Amino acid sequence: MSDKLRVAVLGATGIVGQRFVARLSKHPWFELEGVYASYDKAGLRYREAVKWVINEAPDESIMETRVEKIDIDLIARENYDLVFSALPSTIAENIEVELAKRGVKIVSNASPLRLEQDIPLINPEVNADHIKLLNAQKKRGWKGWIAKVPNCSTAILTLALKPLHQAYGISRVIVVTMQAVSGAGLKGVPSPLIIDNIIPYIKGEEEKIVQESRKILGLFNGRIVMPASFEVLAFTTRVPVIDGHMEAVFVELEETPRSEEDIIELLERYHDNKIETLRLPSAPKRPVVVREEVDRPQPRLDRMAGNGMSVTVGRLSVNGKMIKMIVLGHNTIRGAAGNGVLIGELAYKLNLI
Ligand SMILES: NC(=O)c1ccc[n+]([C@@H]2O[C@H](COP(=O)([O-])OP(=O)(O)OC[C@H]3O[C@@H](n4cnc5c(N)ncnc54)[C@H](OP(=O)(O)O)[C@@H]3O)[C@@H](O)[C@H]2O)c1
Repeated sequence: MSDKLRVAVLGATGIVGQRFVARLSKHPWFELEGVYASYDKAGLRYREAVKWVINEAPDESIMETRVEKIDIDLIARENYDLVFSALPSTIAENIEVELAKRGVKIVSNASPLRLEQDIPLINPEVNADHIKLLNAQKKRGWKGWIAKVPNCSTAILTLALKPLHQAYGISRVIVVTMQAVSGAGLKGVPSPLIIDNIIPYIKGEEEKIVQESRKILGLFNGRIVMPASFEVLAFTTRVPVIDGHMEAVFVELEETPRSEEDIIELLERYHDNKIETLRLPSAPKRPVVVREEVDRPQPRLDRMAGNGMSVTVGRLSVNGKMIKMIVLGHNTIRGAAGNGVLIGELAYKLNLI
């Protein structure tokens, strides 16, 4: 018998679900044993149920696995070591909470509960210590727990902000995102609306960036997270790119940095000692990559940096306390499933599973 941890994916046929399946079906520590989707797909083999759209192939063995419908009691009885959720936000909360009550440990991509005080919202190289919030969930009477993956644009943004906040303090962030269509899911944005077009509004996205950035970069005092106090202003737009969210970011620091070279070095050398020591398989060698060419980063060229787990920063310039830069990251990897797998690896190494 394998000594790997037994894991399952809820929403395994969607865009984020496919990324989970691709990465978990070949994972050195996790054995993907369950794939779950809607009633329409239940009973089909994964091969028949999924319309594969991503640029990463899963291990062939998973293709023959039967897709199951979501049945809370049956999932709880499977006794998975960890469950990854890529369910639509509209249905995720009730399912995830009922599972956690029954002892299931869940890493979830869905937005509900992300801002609850006892729910860790984790971008591992940025705020791994927040994972200790899981202990507080016992007060809810849950036998399991729920950890949340941040919103895709926010995960990408906060990885680039962390080294700056750590060194100089941030007083204000202004960001305009250019978000890929895969961010809207498999049935996402109809092509007549997005080809030859840019849509200057994504429902709920600006609020998520504002609130989640402050929570992720907030201080954990051993009991609660005190959100960072910097101001965040955001515009979020949808652009005709398949994968990779680009963000034009203006950061006002609390102190004037020594030089532009210093900022570049801070970003390029950024790493989290704890994550490095734990040797998590999904952690990229360099969380932040800096490109000095004037025409980088670009989604097609840079989204797979660090196997999709690094963010790429370019067009960087410093003027007094103001920094401007373009930040790019892969929305379904660093912004969703890749981050989720990394959180699972972190939880395992910290004996939370
Ligand atoms: N796409 C991104 O870049 C991104 C980034 C960060 C976070 N997220 C979040 O991640 C989650 C998944 O997003 P996605 O883009 O992968 O969506 P998606 O492509 O629409 O996939 C949704 C998945 O949920 C399943 N599902 C739908 N209704 C269901 C039901 N009633 N019962 C059981 N399963 C059901 C679908 O199965 P069927 O195939 O059977 O319909 C499919 O597997 C969402 O909460 C989203 O907000 C997405």
